[in-house]
Amino acid sequence: MTTRSVVIGLGHYLPERVVPNSEFEATLDTSDEWIKSRSGIERRHFAAEGETTSNLATNAARKALADAGLGPNDLDAIVLATSTADLTFPSAATMVQSALGMTRGFAFDVQAVCAGFIYALSTANALLLAGQAKRIMVIGAETFSRIMDWNDRSTCVLFGDGAGAVILEAQDGTGDKSDRGILSVDLNSDGQHRDILYVDGGISTQTTGFLRMQGKEVFRHAVEKLAKTATTAMDKADIASDEVDWIVPHQANIRIIQGTAKKLGLSMDHVVVTVQDHGNTSAASIPLALSVGVERGQIKRGDVVVTEAIGGGLAWGAVVLRW
Ligand code: UT7
Repeated sequence: MTTRSVVIGLGHYLPERVVPNSEFEATLDTSDEWIKSRSGIERRHFAAEGETTSNLATNAARKALADAGLGPNDLDAIVLATSTADLTFPSAATMVQSALGMTRGFAFDVQAVCAGFIYALSTANALLLAGQAKRIMVIGAETFSRIMDWNDRSTCVLFGDGAGAVILEAQDGTGDKSDRGILSVDLNSDGQHRDILYVDGGISTQTTGFLRMQGKEVFRHAVEKLAKTATTAMDKADIASDEVDWIVPHQANIRIIQGTAKKLGLSMDHVVVTVQDHGNTSAASIPLALSVGVERGQIKRGDVVVTEAIGGGLAWGAVVLRW
């Protein structure tokens, strides 16, 4: 008998305000056409003034609990991936814990920027396999609109705000790839590339800072590293390309998504794409895409799903699971 971390509930939340590309044309030397053709992004959501990452996360978490038919105290833990927590401390996860009325268990944040949800899934999976928890809420939530330099057209048109959540439960499996749940994980980082995507401020410098990115450089690393980590995770799970039902990639750029799918030998019919509606929501992008993919009727119980992401660090990774 093998323990497997099985998704038993999910949900997402997007702030009300939708900002189409055309809105940037008034203040920047840019165009809907450039943004769409270079990134695939058509619109994104921005949090309202005073609306924080933990607010978005709590809304997504409530939907996941409702989806699973559970109450907050049925959870043993919350693992929240974010680079834009409300405060320096406490963690956004403990804020969600209190907002949900969860009075037991433990909660903490994971920070691996756009790869954050992959790292959080992996962390939660390890806790479940070690028997330290039976049910864990894993959330990706961000308010990247707070760290945009609105004068930098090469970054501010690319990002958005949002949150997605899944509930993982430890269940018995047979140990082979027919099991539902997480089948494999692959994590990587290389701090030598820390200066191609970073925020030029932080707690220790007593500034908030703005996101800075050498887009072309990040792009160059992305397709190659994403295809490699996805292949490694698929190999670990003994899953071949033709067994993959869905790739649910980090939603940064449609050209990266297409390039990675091609390298993996999969057509775009097997890829969940939400980048046109959400922009790049960093750690929130994969759980958002999972939730939208299920809502659209794309991802179904029993499907093999490959998730992969890369971002600041560089940090990247992949998780293979059977839905
Ligand atoms: O989530 C973390 C991971 N992040 C990513 O995966 C992002 C990876 N990078 C990318 O997605 C792409 O590199 C971008 C979408 C950021 C940029 O696309 P690109 O095809 O690499 O364009 P570029 O940076 O080479 O810029 C081409 C031109 C430049 O002008 P010149 O130097 O050729 O005259 C830019 O100044 O486009 C210009 N440009 C813009 N023009 C209109 C840059 N931003 C804009 C803009 N509107 N918003």
